[in-house]
Amino acid sequence: MFQDSSRCIVIVGAQWGDEGKGKITDVLAEQATLVARYQGGANAGHTVLVDGEEFILHLIPSGAIVPSVKCVLGNGVVIDPWTLLEEIDELEARGIEIAERLIVSRRAHLVLPYHRLLDGARESLRGDAKIGTTKRGIGPAYRDKVSRTGVRVCELEDLSNCAGLVRAACAAANGLLASWGLEDRADPEQIMAELESIAPRIRALAGDSGATLLEELHGDGRVLLEGAQGSLLDVDHGTYPFVTSSNTTAGAAAAGVGIGPTLIDGVLGIVKAYTTRVGSGPLPTELEGHEADRLRKLGAEFGATTGRPRRPGWYDGAVVRHSAAVNGLTALAVTKLDVLDTFDEIRLGVGYTLDGAPLEAFPVRASELERVVPVYETAGGWGADTGQARAWGDLPAGARDYLERIEANAGVPIRYVSVGSARDQIVRAAIPRGA
Ligand code: IMP
Repeated sequence: MFQDSSRCIVIVGAQWGDEGKGKITDVLAEQATLVARYQGGANAGHTVLVDGEEFILHLIPSGAIVPSVKCVLGNGVVIDPWTLLEEIDELEARGIEIAERLIVSRRAHLVLPYHRLLDGARESLRGDAKIGTTKRGIGPAYRDKVSRTGVRVCELEDLSNCAGLVRAACAAANGLLASWGLEDRADPEQIMAELESIAPRIRALAGDSGATLLEELHGDGRVLLEGAQGSLLDVDHGTYPFVTSSNTTAGAAAAGVGIGPTLIDGVLGIVKAYTTRVGSGPLPTELEGHEADRLRKLGAEFGATTGRPRRPGWYDGAVVRHSAAVNGLTALAVTKLDVLDTFDEIRLGVGYTLDGAPLEAFPVRASELERVVPVYETAGGWGADTGQARAWGDLPAGARDYLERIEANAGVPIRYVSVGSARDQIVRAAIPRGA
């Protein structure tokens, strides 16, 4: 992905998350010197498999598994400090030294216990209108950020001032919980006691994400900006209100780490060879019954953060075209192709109709997206194991045909194809074909 002149690449999920960004980031991290996250928090679950060992990362960038790579959590990330320290300790217990090469933006906002309380409470009050959040406190933390009542990492440098902010935030949260008729309450003194005990460790990681990236880019560095969730979960461009609370798309990457957009050279969109979604909201190509169970089982489609079963569907070209437009995708990585190896027939969504007429623009309203009817092309299966393929020519003709249809429909060249969860199960076939 890094060409001679390119130094900074954004990696985004081009569907509803869980596209395999963790694996592709890990593969590309071998060519990178620094990997930064720019949004989201511990709602993410990025799985990386190295030499048969599985790592699930929620906050720390997926590049962490490559020992030489520096890792950054940008100002746009919301950070649960206890989850962060747990993740560091777990990695270090497994022999991956990370604390020395991790920088956490002093501008990033903290996710504190009252955010989790509010997230869970709000979801339970929504009843059937649930968003299906991960209950990690993400929405309430971003709400405090834009309401200008948040607590940032830099507040841990002055704990008496921090205590004032936490007390005010707890009073507001407790007022809300009481008004909803709930008994749970946040205890500011307990939160401060717990924060005080971890503050020295967090302060030791704190730095300036923008300055760190600029130094890297002005030197010989190569930087990956790793998106979390997917483009259809973007708070503006996704299927609102069934979205997360941040801009997941590539436009947010520069702002979320503190550099200018002119430094970004390319945007790699990650798409699964089919579609999945966790939580509520429209999913036009959704499968039901036996076919859904089969795809879920073959693809091990269970959430890495919550363990929830994911909702599977056929590949949806309308979704990926929307993503290509809003992200300015310059290349695609198609993941989990091997999951389709045993299907006799594969369907490929190429567009939608609404009320009998073809739909050109991607629907803005979730209620409209609920009503679209996908237009499918049918592809024959390839009936062969793709897990051993390492070059484009190793793939069966049927699989190449399927990928070429995806490429033509998306209008974006395929640069990588992932054919299994191991690090080496990757086809880097597209060099003459892709960006
Ligand atoms: P939240 O981000 O926890 O507020 O959840 C909002 C929506 O985004 C829910 O539908 C979640 O299931 C979904 N979501 C959040 N993070 C991820 C992720 O990393 N992968 C897939 N879906 C996610």
